[in-house]
Amino acid sequence: MTTSRIQDAANAFDALMDAAVDAIIIIDSQGLVRRFNRAAEQMFGYREKDIRGKNVNLLMPEPDHSSHDRYLSQYGRTGDKNIIGKGREVRGRKQDGGTFPMFLSVGEIRQKEGNRYVGIIKDLSEVRESQQQVRQLEEQLLHADRLVILGELTAGIAHEINQPLTAIAAYADAGRKITDRQNETPPDEINTVCERISEQSRRAAEVVQRLRKLVQSGEVSKARHDINQIIRNTLLLFEYEVKRYNVELFSHPIKALQPLYIDEIHIQQILVNLVKNSLDAISLAGQQDGRIDIRIKKAGPDVLISVTDNGPGVPLKHRERLFESFFTTKPKGVGLGLSICKTIAGAHGGSLKYSQPKEGGSRFTLSLPLEFIG
Ligand SMILES: Nc1ncnc2c1ncn2[C@@H]1O[C@H](COP(=O)(O)OP(=O)(O)OP(=O)(O)O)[C@@H](O)[C@H]1O
Ligand SMILES: [Mg+2]
Repeated sequence: MTTSRIQDAANAFDALMDAAVDAIIIIDSQGLVRRFNRAAEQMFGYREKDIRGKNVNLLMPEPDHSSHDRYLSQYGRTGDKNIIGKGREVRGRKQDGGTFPMFLSVGEIRQKEGNRYVGIIKDLSEVRESQQQVRQLEEQLLHADRLVILGELTAGIAHEINQPLTAIAAYADAGRKITDRQNETPPDEINTVCERISEQSRRAAEVVQRLRKLVQSGEVSKARHDINQIIRNTLLLFEYEVKRYNVELFSHPIKALQPLYIDEIHIQQILVNLVKNSLDAISLAGQQDGRIDIRIKKAGPDVLISVTDNGPGVPLKHRERLFESFFTTKPKGVGLGLSICKTIAGAHGGSLKYSQPKEGGSRFTLSLPLEFIG
């Protein structure tokens, strides 16, 4: 090549380096920086003139900072391709000491004067940040969804709490009268009264306790729980709505089932959403003979928990979209219930499916593995 053609090629190469959106760094076989393009200057905060001739490990936090020279000489001796030809996610270090996630791919340029390596780098900070935001939003949505349903249930629950409290008062009055007439009263009558008092007050306390737990925001925390108990607790929350819509709500507990490794509140949230959907479907259809059944059975390595209602069912054209976020047919629906339920089921290594019983209505089946430590 003539001198001017060499110059043209060099200019074109410079222009290409500086036009690149990704950071491009070229080092020699000693690990010293030879080229550092404009995008790299912006990413790392160094000027090319300041970093040229310096060891590229300046741009790496530990442990790569200390190991990079060894990697290079190892490759020189053994030809063992650790990163060359592939890409991987690593951390970079800026001039101000801050570190950030980046995707680095390395290629090799073989030359008579010694090999060069070219690193192409994408900054992943934004990607990681938005992933983190999505995760946070999902957490918030789970929480918001619980709050929306709770808002609707609260009035009913307050009413439900009132009833046992009134009963406690009445029984307490009766107890007082009985002790007044102490001489004629056989002692086991007092016992019965006392039992009722404690029974009713325990029930009131439990409703409040459930409500409190469900409102609490929190990270997923799995532990061993009895699924029958979770179902019982769910039914407790619906006592008022069930009476209001004149619906029969049955549960069929399963005996001798081992405790499952689950997040109690999240699984209860699935059941609350499913029962609420069934109640909505029945009440929107104006049915007077509504019935909801919660059944549990073992199926191989899984336990299946189904919520079946005798409502109008889901029309064929809607079945594919049921679990989509924001799919709703209700005037005030958000359309997040089922999509959230499906996410929770997945986080437990399980699934949530719709099927239509042959006698009509809807059935949602939550499948959870009997043994899952996720
Ligand atoms: N048991 C059911 N019977 C009939 N249709 C149902 C049943 N469960 C869900 N659907 C249908 O699926 C749609 C989506 O349900 P999903 O729970 O995701 O949202 P939503 O109940 O409409 O709103 P929200 O976010 O408040 O729960 C409902 O609007 C309804 O059309
Ligand atoms: Mg719903």
